[in-house]
Amino acid sequence: MEVFLLATLFPLVSSATNSLVELRASDVVAGPCHGRVTLVCDVSEEKGITVSSLSWIHVKEKRPLCSTDHSIELKKQDRIRCRYTPQTRLALTISPLWPTDQGEYLCKLRSNLGMKNAKSQVQVQECFSGVNAVSSPSAVACHFYGVFPLGKVHWFHQGKNVTSAATSSIKEDHKGMYNVSSTLPVNEDSTAEEYNCSLWIPGAGAYRNSTLVHASQRTQRIADPNTAVSLHIFGLGSYLLLARVVMT
Ligand SMILES: *[C@@H]1O[C@H](CO)[C@@H](O)[C@H](O)[C@H]1NC(C)=O
Ligand SMILES: *[C@@H]1O[C@H](CO)[C@@H](O)[C@H](O)[C@H]1NC(C)=O
Ligand SMILES: *[C@@H]1O[C@H](CO)[C@@H](O)[C@H](O)[C@H]1NC(C)=O
Ligand SMILES: *[C@@H]1O[C@H](CO)[C@@H](O)[C@H](O)[C@H]1NC(C)=O
Repeated sequence: MEVFLLATLFPLVSSATNSLVELRASDVVAGPCHGRVTLVCDVSEEKGITVSSLSWIHVKEKRPLCSTDHSIELKKQDRIRCRYTPQTRLALTISPLWPTDQGEYLCKLRSNLGMKNAKSQVQVQECFSGVNAVSSPSAVACHFYGVFPLGKVHWFHQGKNVTSAATSSIKEDHKGMYNVSSTLPVNEDSTAEEYNCSLWIPGAGAYRNSTLVHASQRTQRIADPNTAVSLHIFGLGSYLLLARVVMT
């Protein structure tokens, strides 16, 4: 009965190994993309306890991020910092937060009263950096970058869903964010017509961002006013545009 009550009152207390000491870690911590999260791991105040080591481990990568026994040297520019309050707490801070940081973390304690583990979970909220659009007489294209979770581009023209005619490409960077590009061929006589390019996030079941692209007589790039203009033409769009330039 007492055990049951304790388990319901303190669901975060780990009972992985049999020892006198208790360890408590943050449960699920969700943080904004590019923002910051802190996981704390607290050692219960037992009489006569001597902590010999406390560490945080990224389970997926099977690597310790920090440890009080100084076995891991952290680089100065690292996004990962730990703060140790002797004998009681090890706090792990990740900033800026990237999608690759998502997953399970393990806090490990070694002490004179035994060893103990406690689990935490990091979740990364949606990422979105910006959108660029490119248009030419033969195609319109858009490029969503720094996206997480992965989305799909849908095209709308005069109230119709014209997505099936488009070609998409996806690139993932080392932070776990995606660039999603899509090119839609258009008729030469559709100059100045408006195409709506929207980013659909299946996990959220919603359109998270969109931009209007106008088919144009000349090749041009339109950038989101909030983001720097990219002079880089991408994917299939560049071939269509190059083909057009070569032909004229
Ligand atoms: C548009 O078309 C795409 C692909 O054909 C489809 O997955 C999507 O659900 C459609 N969206 C709407 C709003 O009709
Ligand atoms: C994603 O797009 C951005 C903006 O155009 C670019 O700077 C970055 O290099 C791209 N990343 C990848 C992995 O292609
Ligand atoms: C597109 O993204 C920008 C920047 O995050 C945001 O300010 C804007 O509201 C978004 N637009 C839509 C239609 O979701
Ligand atoms: C484009 O279409 C989507 C989906 O119908 C809509 O949510 C969005 O507001 C439109 N964007 C613009 C800029 O009109």
